[in-house]
Amino acid sequence: MKQFDYLILGSGIAGLTFALQVAPRGRVAIVTKKDRAESNTNYAQGGIAAVTSKEDSFELHVRDTLEAGAGLCKESVVRTIVGEGPARIAELIALGMRFSENEQRAEDGSRELDLGREGGHSKRRILHAKDVTGREIERALLAAVSRQPNIEIFENHVAIDLITSQKLEKAESGKRKADLKNCCLGAYVFDKKANRVGTFAAPVTVLATGGCGKVYLYTTNPDIATGDGVAMAFRAGASIANMEFVQFHPTCLYHPKAKSFLISEAVRGEGGVLKTLDGKEFMDAVHPMKSLAPRDIVARAIDSEMKKTGADCVHLDITHKPAKFIIERFPNIYQTCLRHGIDITREAIPVVPAAHYQCGGVVTNADGGTDIAGLFAIGEVACTGLHGANRLASNSLLEALVCAHRAAEKILSAPLPKSDLKIPVWQSGNATNADELVVVAHNWDEIRRLMWDYVGIVRTNKRLQRAQSRLANLQQEIQEYYWNFIVTADLLELRNIATVAELIVRCALMRPESRGLNYNLDFPDLNPDWAQRDSVVRRGN
Ligand code: FAD
Ligand code: SIN
Repeated sequence: MKQFDYLILGSGIAGLTFALQVAPRGRVAIVTKKDRAESNTNYAQGGIAAVTSKEDSFELHVRDTLEAGAGLCKESVVRTIVGEGPARIAELIALGMRFSENEQRAEDGSRELDLGREGGHSKRRILHAKDVTGREIERALLAAVSRQPNIEIFENHVAIDLITSQKLEKAESGKRKADLKNCCLGAYVFDKKANRVGTFAAPVTVLATGGCGKVYLYTTNPDIATGDGVAMAFRAGASIANMEFVQFHPTCLYHPKAKSFLISEAVRGEGGVLKTLDGKEFMDAVHPMKSLAPRDIVARAIDSEMKKTGADCVHLDITHKPAKFIIERFPNIYQTCLRHGIDITREAIPVVPAAHYQCGGVVTNADGGTDIAGLFAIGEVACTGLHGANRLASNSLLEALVCAHRAAEKILSAPLPKSDLKIPVWQSGNATNADELVVVAHNWDEIRRLMWDYVGIVRTNKRLQRAQSRLANLQQEIQEYYWNFIVTADLLELRNIATVAELIVRCALMRPESRGLNYNLDFPDLNPDWAQRDSVVRRGN
């Protein structure tokens, strides 16, 4: 058994930021599924939204966030996160983050930071590092982490399940002590290289495991994004909310050889225009902000055009801008498209929507606190109330940064909790090596396809119910498989995507209205009874 003061699951912006804050005060373990940089953070393109210019204001950023969130944001949380953004950005820069600058000079003679624009933002306010913002964030944070002797990183380690007092008491006495508050004591973790499950114990466990794009067949997310944090928290008894609000990014590159490559919204922010394959600018009739309308609206409009015309994709055209500007501003997008035979300075980019961001998640306050003592959730895994029914572009890196800092401050302000409970080692029982890995691969594909077909951008109750009954069967099969065979990383992820898929469907079926990202043809309007209501699910309810 390994014992730490702080156990952090995940090494994206949320996990690393938290680790740096608490490291001076205790021993920190960062457990991460693959290489340390592999995360959604690493692929972020557009940037971080924060108020840094004289033309902008907190009030405008708050207003844009609330508008995108379609009435479901928690305004106090929005104000906190927007208000604390600039201070956290300054700290990130002090740590070594290099944002892009423009030609203008600030009063002190230094270059001004360049500000991008994205959908739903009324002002230019996106700080970015060209079109590879996430890569630069990971570089800067990992460099800072490597200077901290108190932090140990465990790569290629997959957290399986949280260890909670309720589970231990139930295992010991056969029943739960309902009067005792459930608390988290650490996690069981699968070491992929050693092929062994270990116990990581800590009085503070932080879920920073990111999102769940891989639940869908087409996604902008890398392979790590299998919703493990939400699934683990759900199994541990935490409240999960608003999982129906899956954000589909409107513009993922459509090319048979391009896996999950995003074409940043910043391309539209710099003048890129969405067109049908025969050149019609179809967003003009949809929203006053045209191609820069909020994401839910753009994704639905593209979906509708594709269904109307039978086309496989639409076009995003930025060829009217000077080639030099395009190549300098979007070097990664330019080079990647060129490798696939598309010169974006001369021809339009074929794009389709793809699952991108999980607006719901583990219910937390703005300090990352969950309803399990000792368990915190920060970043994309959490549902703080910032995003409501639809996230405003580039607000997620901001949320992760601010909430990681707030969680650390809150935790450091009190003594670490103590527990006398004895944690047993992981039991494999009579499990044997799996003999039919095809079952795992088949179920992976089936879940992702059925979620794409039945629980996508436009939903109906009939399709949701069909998905629910298929998922119930699959869950049963996966559970049997899980208990009978020794764990593998693929099996663990399969179990998690099945759980998260089921939670998305359950939440979507709970909400009798179309709001933000949940568009249901059986309930095409807003329902005032649900104006302020989250769809909350808990194990057993
Ligand atoms: P992540 O960065 O996803 O990190 C999760 C970590 O948890 C990873 O290290 C992963 O390996 C680890 N992990 C997961 N499960 C386990 C497990 N079971 N055991 C151990 N480790 C585990 N947002 C913006 O604000 N601006 C943008 O410009 C932007 N662009 C984006 C572009 C793309 C292509 C994508 C996919 C997302 C983008 N987003 C953007 C969203 C944003 O990147 C994410 O919401 C944010 O990075 C999430 O950070 P995080 O730290 O919460 O999680
Ligand atoms: C993008 O660059 O389009 C992604 C921005 C985001 O998801 O916030």
